Amino acid sequence: MNTPVNINIVNEEIAKSGLKDLGKATIREIVGLVNKIQNISGVKYMRMEMGVPGLKPPKIGIEAEIEALESGVASDYPMVDGVKVLKDEASKFVKNFMGIDISPDSCIPTVGSMQGSYAIFLLCANLNPQKDTALFIDPGFPVQKQQFRVMGHKFESFDVYNYRGEALREKLESFLSKGNINSIIYSNPNNPSWICFTDDELKIIGELANKYDVIVIEDLAYFGMDFRKDLYHPGKPPYQVSVANYTDNYVLLISGSKAFSYAGQRIAVAAISDKIFNREYPYLTDRFGCDKFGYTFVLRIIYSLSSGASHSAQYALAAMMKAANSGEFNFIEEVKEYGNRAHIMKKMFTDAGFQIVYDKDLDEDIADGFYFTISYPGLSGGELVKELLYYGISAISLGTSGSLRTEGLRACVSQITSDKMPVLDERLKMFKLNHN
Ligand SMILES: Cc1ncc(COP(=O)(O)O)c(C=O)c1O
Repeated sequence: MNTPVNINIVNEEIAKSGLKDLGKATIREIVGLVNKIQNISGVKYMRMEMGVPGLKPPKIGIEAEIEALESGVASDYPMVDGVKVLKDEASKFVKNFMGIDISPDSCIPTVGSMQGSYAIFLLCANLNPQKDTALFIDPGFPVQKQQFRVMGHKFESFDVYNYRGEALREKLESFLSKGNINSIIYSNPNNPSWICFTDDELKIIGELANKYDVIVIEDLAYFGMDFRKDLYHPGKPPYQVSVANYTDNYVLLISGSKAFSYAGQRIAVAAISDKIFNREYPYLTDRFGCDKFGYTFVLRIIYSLSSGASHSAQYALAAMMKAANSGEFNFIEEVKEYGNRAHIMKKMFTDAGFQIVYDKDLDEDIADGFYFTISYPGLSGGELVKELLYYGISAISLGTSGSLRTEGLRACVSQITSDKMPVLDERLKMFKLNHN
């Protein structure tokens, strides 16, 4: 059979990797495997496995970072709770683009949202000994489950596909009513399915967070990227929707990585509701020697993990947020390119006989964004990962995301620039021909 990559090379490298089931491989394991196959075969892959930004970092960020370094910040330890200018701009940013009031004190820079989530998960697991379990609304970002495994903390999860709209209430209550849940975690827009929760659904989550006193961890890694609505109107609606409109029990994770194409510098902000930031949880004292949520987050956990985020990256994010706040930098327009790519790529895949797994967002077609999900009749997720490797295309299985749709894959559009589209199309046509 004629395939773009020699089948024997792919099979040998898979065998050497020791990965028994490609459906269970992590993103970084697939990255490593594909790097090897690429080197040996000489064929450049269509890389859709990792969510790296495929756009240039904004000049505003780079220039602010250079200026900060030239002023000598590299020799100083940053304050653990962050530099004032970033705290101020982050507070304005949530006001301008979400319509939410959070004081600068409660906006804490972290080393990427990865660190923010790790620290918040750890904190939430220690608020109350009866509440020892977190709840993921899946599908989700697999590395966050890895963070739980590394910490040895418990989590439960469910695939939201069949529980959209009002059905979400009963499903959530079936977990929350057991009394062991400390937090609810989801990303919105969702990695990997690109489902976008509606205001009504966020209201349900918020009301239940109040009823059962749990913390909602809203991961906004793809802030403003529901491209069906134009969300760049500083200070005016429509805003990025949020659970923060319906409960005070929330933490927002705002990452610099995707919305600002700044993943390499590992910078994000955890914006904690003022009420939670200042709330006392008596059980925290036994473990951390202090009882306030925000104080423990900053001066026990972030201090222990990294003692703050790098000075220069904080100045970069502050400058980008400041320009966005003042109406000079439409950061959402910059990333709309991802939606255009998804639109073209989904058609290529469906023309080749693939199906979109998470195809609907309530009664609308799923939006075009950073990721989409695909399956091929008769193949499991692991089999499809392998099969596509023969065609020089790499992606990860949905099995690692908590999705029940284990036949599916997550495809990330970020690295498929317009010059690569014809090659992807050609490879998919060959796939179609060989599978007919
Ligand atoms: C849902 C989600 N959360 C968090 C992250 C990590 O963000 P950061 O690069 O800020 O650590 C990602 C990155 O892909 C993500 O998709």
